[in-house]
Amino acid sequence: MRVAGKMKSSLELSIFEGHQQLCAAAADLFAAEMEKAVRGRGRFCVALSGGRTPGLLYSDIAGRRIASAFWKATHIFFADERYLPPGNVETNMALLERTLLSGGKASQCNVHAFDTALPSPQAAATEYGARLSILFGDSIGGRPWEKGPLFDLVLLGLGADGHTASLFRSSPALLETRRAAVAVDAPEGVSPALRMTLTPPLLRAGRRTLFLVSGPEKHEALTVLLSGKGECPALSAISGSGAAVYADGGAING
Ligand code: 6PG
Repeated sequence: MRVAGKMKSSLELSIFEGHQQLCAAAADLFAAEMEKAVRGRGRFCVALSGGRTPGLLYSDIAGRRIASAFWKATHIFFADERYLPPGNVETNMALLERTLLSGGKASQCNVHAFDTALPSPQAAATEYGARLSILFGDSIGGRPWEKGPLFDLVLLGLGADGHTASLFRSSPALLETRRAAVAVDAPEGVSPALRMTLTPPLLRAGRRTLFLVSGPEKHEALTVLLSGKGECPALSAISGSGAAVYADGGAING
């Protein structure tokens, strides 16, 4: 691993040879943050993303020798979700079921998923936002993020178009300041189109934020993210400090 240090957008950059090394290092960070949070605050709250990059990390962390007590104190949230019937293989929940929750001690954690059985993505987003407010000790419709960090770790991906979670370019969701989660129509050509996403204020409410960026197709978006200059929805998920990027050689070199 080569650590390139702080970038202009105040992100710490670490570079790994390939996807596998990147996921192993992310699993190390996940385990360390989990231990620190449970020992220090009695629980570990982590927001997870979907996509093809983090599956290996989820399987890796599930296979580690971590005591049940840590998993029982772990609360998993979703940075975004696809509005598809429960159990659909393309949902982020299904990804988690195939990896992190596929048996063993990790399946003892508390999973707070979007309810995609609700009649619309709007209903699913509103219900999730209300549930998060209550879980984080605020009134429904409140702004729990104003009290300080809510998540110990926010794990994000980066699309080749610069999106993160389901925050796409020109989406009204990028301007959201009041709601914790909203429904989103993905841009044309992005499937599935109907999604729910946490909003920027909530994504910024992490003590640590980690972007996992793998593959040459991410090179351009990564350059914008690291420079902090240009149009990149992922920039909306970064607050002052504590944010890092783990990138592999493909993403760095293009
Ligand atoms: C999702 C995401 C999304 C993802 C990026 C990168 O559920 O799809 O949360 O923002 O992280 O699209 O995806 P890849 O890892 O597949 O490139």
